[in-house]
Amino acid sequence: AVETRLYFTTPQDVRHLLRPRKKFSHKGLYGHALLLSGGFGKMGAAVLAARACLRAGVGLLTIQVPATGYTVLQTAVPEAMTLADKHRRHLSELPKETDKFDVIGVGPGIGTERVTKTALGQLLATASQPLVVDADAINIIGSSDKLKGQLPPDKVIFTPHPKEFERLVGKSNNEYDRLYDMLDFCRVYRCYVVLKGNNTTIGTPDGKIFFNTTGNAGMATGGTGDVLTGIVTALVGQNYSLEEACLLGVYLHGLAGDLALKAVGEISMTASDVIDFLPQAFLKLQ
Ligand code: APR
Ligand code: MG
Repeated sequence: AVETRLYFTTPQDVRHLLRPRKKFSHKGLYGHALLLSGGFGKMGAAVLAARACLRAGVGLLTIQVPATGYTVLQTAVPEAMTLADKHRRHLSELPKETDKFDVIGVGPGIGTERVTKTALGQLLATASQPLVVDADAINIIGSSDKLKGQLPPDKVIFTPHPKEFERLVGKSNNEYDRLYDMLDFCRVYRCYVVLKGNNTTIGTPDGKIFFNTTGNAGMATGGTGDVLTGIVTALVGQNYSLEEACLLGVYLHGLAGDLALKAVGEISMTASDVIDFLPQAFLKLQ
């Protein structure tokens, strides 16, 4: 049996992971990320994930949204390149050259339509790069043993909230057992799981559990999860290992929330505030 090790992530743990940029660097060194997100009435999820991804240092960002979101994304996120899915409302296809991306983030706002399930199956079967899988992409995979069977080993980070976790892994007897259910899942599928909530918990395929120590109840507001997806995707794109990207991403996301707390308070905090304080979170950690 593999030994289980428990850790709390401290500032010292994550600080040494953060790498400064090379003086003679160019954007090609910081990865080209693809985000597959957004849906009719949920284009904001794509906007939030994209903005967070850029603030977390990705070199280049392409974002594919359903056709009705094209102008929204081009206007709200001018730094990103935008691709329009042929479907007006839902994710239904993959970009032509998926191999050129260093990482793919998928899920926020995509819904669970049949066409989307098919596209996601195609992604799991063909992707050569790491995947950050969130929201409805988790719900879709959770509902299909066939898709679970297609998960590429050592390439996937799941970022479920507790309900999504239940759909993916199953119902646990209690919160303590849930940690071990999470580790079993990580071992069987050789994936990483970020179970979100207060004290977000990260599980790894080699049996480690990390409890995050940043974040606050002001972050219990729609869209903060989409922000985390963007951050983790950006870090994987910059060639952090999947474990490092989980630890750093979750820590920085919570730290940005803690800095936002001081400025706007827990009641008024929005997901956009968390993005706005990401730069200060990076500065504080450096
Ligand atoms: N303390 C610390 N962090 C918190 C707290 C808390 N009390 N509450 C929430 N958070 C953080 C979580 O750790 C997570 O990173 O806020 C984020 C919330 O993420 P999600 O639950 O994924 O929420 P989000 O996706 O933004 O919500 C939008 O999408 O999946 C659906 O059902 C979901 O309707 C919701 C919508
Ligand atoms: Mg979410």
